[in-house]
Amino acid sequence: MSPASIFGAFLQLILFSVLCQGLRLYSKAKLNYSRNHYKVMSRVLVTGGAGFIGSHTVDKLIEKGYEVTVLDNLERQVHLGRKPKYLNEKAEYVYEDVRSLKAWAKVLGDVQYVIHLAGAVGVGQSFWQPRKYMTVNTVGTANLYQVLMANRERAKKIEKIVVASSKSIYGEGAYLCEEHGVVYPGPRSTEQLKKKDWEQKCPICGRPVRPVGITEEKPAQNLSPYALSKYDSERLSLQFSEVLGIPTVAFRYFNVYGPRQSLSNPYTGVVAIFLSRLKNGKPPVIFEDGKQVRDFVYVEDVADFNVRALERGQGVFNLGTEKPTSLLEIVSILKGITGARVDPDVTGDFRPGDNRHDYADTTKLRREYGEYAFTDLKKGMEKLAEWSSGEEARDMFEREEVERKKFIQI
Ligand SMILES: NC(=O)c1ccc[n+]([C@@H]2O[C@H](COP(=O)([O-])OP(=O)(O)OC[C@H]3O[C@@H](n4cnc5c(N)ncnc54)[C@H](O)[C@@H]3O)[C@@H](O)[C@H]2O)c1
Ligand SMILES: [Zn+2]
Repeated sequence: MSPASIFGAFLQLILFSVLCQGLRLYSKAKLNYSRNHYKVMSRVLVTGGAGFIGSHTVDKLIEKGYEVTVLDNLERQVHLGRKPKYLNEKAEYVYEDVRSLKAWAKVLGDVQYVIHLAGAVGVGQSFWQPRKYMTVNTVGTANLYQVLMANRERAKKIEKIVVASSKSIYGEGAYLCEEHGVVYPGPRSTEQLKKKDWEQKCPICGRPVRPVGITEEKPAQNLSPYALSKYDSERLSLQFSEVLGIPTVAFRYFNVYGPRQSLSNPYTGVVAIFLSRLKNGKPPVIFEDGKQVRDFVYVEDVADFNVRALERGQGVFNLGTEKPTSLLEIVSILKGITGARVDPDVTGDFRPGDNRHDYADTTKLRREYGEYAFTDLKKGMEKLAEWSSGEEARDMFEREEVERKKFIQI
């Protein structure tokens, strides 16, 4: 081989590798461009997007550059016949009902993601309106899949579905017996409650137990039509995740609180109910002895997870903070913030079906999404109270009590 041909071959090699490198850079740039471009163009359907959790979720999505369609019928009990002031103008609103197949077909037209939050919300009320709860929550979710099953090409374009499940499906919390480890007692009997014997006992040995965080493995107890309907919604979504091959996350939200929570809907949100009582100069009414604990999670944290779930996760996850807080503590924090002087009315009365304690074990959530700095309870409550100072809070608690007693006799 002559020196000239060696040099020629060498030059060709260099040229070839420069070309390859160029091609690699080009395709990488193209991929990045299409990813970014795609993201800007991705449309998310948020059902219930005019509601409490939904509207915060819409705000976060818009902030991140997603396009958003909202399907919400502005349920009267929640919105009192008015469009809420906080609706994000950059989203598109379709004021129709999830019970309508036509409504679903209309909004599923060009979306890549679905966050399904629309629902009838209220444990007590679901006992006297079971039909409404089952049609909105169960059939409403079934309608989503009915439409997708009828149009498999459309379904193929959906990249992720996120569904609002609820901790209410667990019923009673999880407890630890010194002898039998983690146990799952059923609801307390009316006889026990009539004796004001509030605490749970080990279902095996009858000895006292202490509450521990609930893991996703705990079997559902579904102690109300509401819980049952949320369970249906969750199960349907996971079944169709398999059938349609659409990755799906169902978050079992614990007690969500924060700005935009309805202050006039007596059926939801113990924090909002207490706050609206205090605002009306009336004592918050606490059943049992007030020492029952719940897991309070700030609404913007929940919205954050809804958005993060578009990109990761599959299956059910508890969405709570893993911190138990008693109802007495909640009232005391609210009193501190608002300066209200009224003491809570701890009635020693009880509501059949109420569970004693519940809070989340978040091991599974943290494994998938990493550690998360949840909003401090007091800070979150301050934000709620600040927002509520500009809001009307109709105290509907007493009306709800009359309604409840009429329907449910002990
Ligand atoms: N807030 C909580 O503590 C909590 C806890 C667990 C689960 N969840 C679930 O989270 C979701 C959102 O709850 P939220 O607290 O934001 O309640 P919300 O009442 O503020 O929001 C629900 C929204 O759904 C809409 N809606 C109701 N019925 C509808 C229908 N038939 N068609 C279309 N839209 C309808 C309402 O107008 C409302 O805007 C619900 O599915 C609820 O079951 C909430
Ligand atoms: Zn035991």
